[in-house]
Amino acid sequence: MEIKSAEFVMSNSDVAKCPKNNLPEYAFIGRSNVGKSSLINMLTNRKSLAKTSGRPGKTQLINHFIINGNWYLVDLPGYGYARVSKSAKKTFQKFITEYFSKRKQLVCAFVLVDIRHKPQPIDLEFMQWLGENMIPFSIIFTKADKLKPGAIDKHIEDYKSDMLQFWEDMPNYFITSSSKNVGKDELLNYIQDLNQNLFK
Ligand code: GTP
Ligand code: MG
Repeated sequence: MEIKSAEFVMSNSDVAKCPKNNLPEYAFIGRSNVGKSSLINMLTNRKSLAKTSGRPGKTQLINHFIINGNWYLVDLPGYGYARVSKSAKKTFQKFITEYFSKRKQLVCAFVLVDIRHKPQPIDLEFMQWLGENMIPFSIIFTKADKLKPGAIDKHIEDYKSDMLQFWEDMPNYFITSSSKNVGKDELLNYIQDLNQNLFK
């Protein structure tokens, strides 16, 4: 899929105020600093459409970006960020949970995980929760540039075998690097296929 346009639409913490039209949307979720906002910039060929930072906790709201005028990418705050106050954490958790439970336009959640780490309890719990709530999701491994190609295969195999202790099948997954532009076509084609199936 070619990205012809990508525009910021709105930020808010209230799911009821998110765009009201029924365009399909795809949300990026995962631990703070995993690279959600960077991936949005990589996919859309824009340097700073979504705000990024080396310090975790940058994205604090639900951010809608409209792509090619007919579908949305949604950038969300990270979960598991220890340095925000307890009450801020609760507020994040509340609106993230509400977003996923109420947003009917959500076609697929992408759960981002850093390719260098083993499955983390917080990611496993979140995927479990998505499963229980019948919210379709795929996994995106980020920061693949930080590993050598051989190590990437090994990490993916280890991740898979850990996942298979909880899941019957490994969810769909993608290997990406926002700094090296890896995984872009695969992800955009996947989204395009999902969009096309919706309008069949
Ligand atoms: P929050 O908004 O705080 O939840 O973080 P985020 O998940 O949106 O992460 P963000 O995109 O802001 O990136 C965090 C840091 O990781 C930044 O310093 C990015 O430059 C870096 N980063 C993101 N993606 C990649 C990648 O593919 N490779 C490398 N090497 N660094 C990356
Ligand atoms: Mg962010």
